[in-house]
Amino acid sequence: MSAAPESLRERIARGLAAARAEFAAATSPALLEGWRVRWLGRKGTVAELFAALASADPSERRELGQLLNAFKQGLQALHDGAAPAERAPVVRTVDASLPGRRPWVGRAHILSQVLDEMQSIFVGLGFSVASGPEVELEEYNFAALNFPPNHPARDLQDTFYVDDRLLLRTQTSPMQVRIMRSQPPPVRVVVPGRVYRNEQIDATHAAEFHQLEGLYVDKAVSMVDLKATIAYFSRRMFGDETRVRFKPHYFPFTEPSVDVDMTCFACAGRGCKLCGGSGWIEIMGAGMVHPNVFTAAGYDPEQVTGFAFGMGVDRIAMLKHGIDDLRLLLENDVRFLAQF
Ligand code: DAH
Repeated sequence: MSAAPESLRERIARGLAAARAEFAAATSPALLEGWRVRWLGRKGTVAELFAALASADPSERRELGQLLNAFKQGLQALHDGAAPAERAPVVRTVDASLPGRRPWVGRAHILSQVLDEMQSIFVGLGFSVASGPEVELEEYNFAALNFPPNHPARDLQDTFYVDDRLLLRTQTSPMQVRIMRSQPPPVRVVVPGRVYRNEQIDATHAAEFHQLEGLYVDKAVSMVDLKATIAYFSRRMFGDETRVRFKPHYFPFTEPSVDVDMTCFACAGRGCKLCGGSGWIEIMGAGMVHPNVFTAAGYDPEQVTGFAFGMGVDRIAMLKHGIDDLRLLLENDVRFLAQF
């Protein structure tokens, strides 16, 4: 025997309890929306109960109708309470006269910009670009570059040793040896990279900085080629009026060795604060590759000659952009970097 059919009044009472219980379990926006569709939707329980009202006893219909309306409003209030944003949208007013917000635009670091510019000048002259390890063999950093063991020239480039054989490279010059050992002449290459020294850090000294190394090896390369290359680079980098001069110097891996000065671009050589009154600014070391370096790298010094140079990228960036403290380049302060 089946139970007597449930009256509409009973269905409403049971529905109220069930809707409340289900509502309490609707803890996410998706669950809440499911709940709304099930109870208040066009084909939901409330709509079904309203449809059943038509077949209710006419004497009860009015009272049941009011009950059902209260039920529906109760559920609606529950729903709206849980989703206040839908019930009372926040009115936003837009003041179209306010200035817009600037989008954040990233850019290459100033050192990368300067290095790109330097490299592209050499690429234009037919040089290729190579890079090598920052943790380098002592052999490449010193021995193969003709720094004898215990020679005082090593003291000028005191660095951080990993062990007896490995160190953080003090210069990009070891790449000269790596490149020559890996290919036959001719060589035309520039090598950008980070180098390390055990320095007391101040406005003009850092324990890590950047160099651009150059190496040109072929038959009958002379100092004239070196000077022409450097003069061309300086004019492109600092302006057509720029002139260069060579001063005798010492590097173990070049003979003869020079320090290269260029005319101060701030005063055109007349003498100012930037160049310390001399009219000249030192921009790099250079020279003709020492025969011992060729031999260590497996080239025959009777067959080839070549020039090499090495310049400080940080220093060139500082000169070019009037930056007076080297530390700014590595601190990553956006207020500083965003100027370039
Ligand atoms: N490696 C040198 C330094 O760090 C710079 C240098 C001088 C590089 C002369 C060269 C060169 O290739 O020929 O001070």
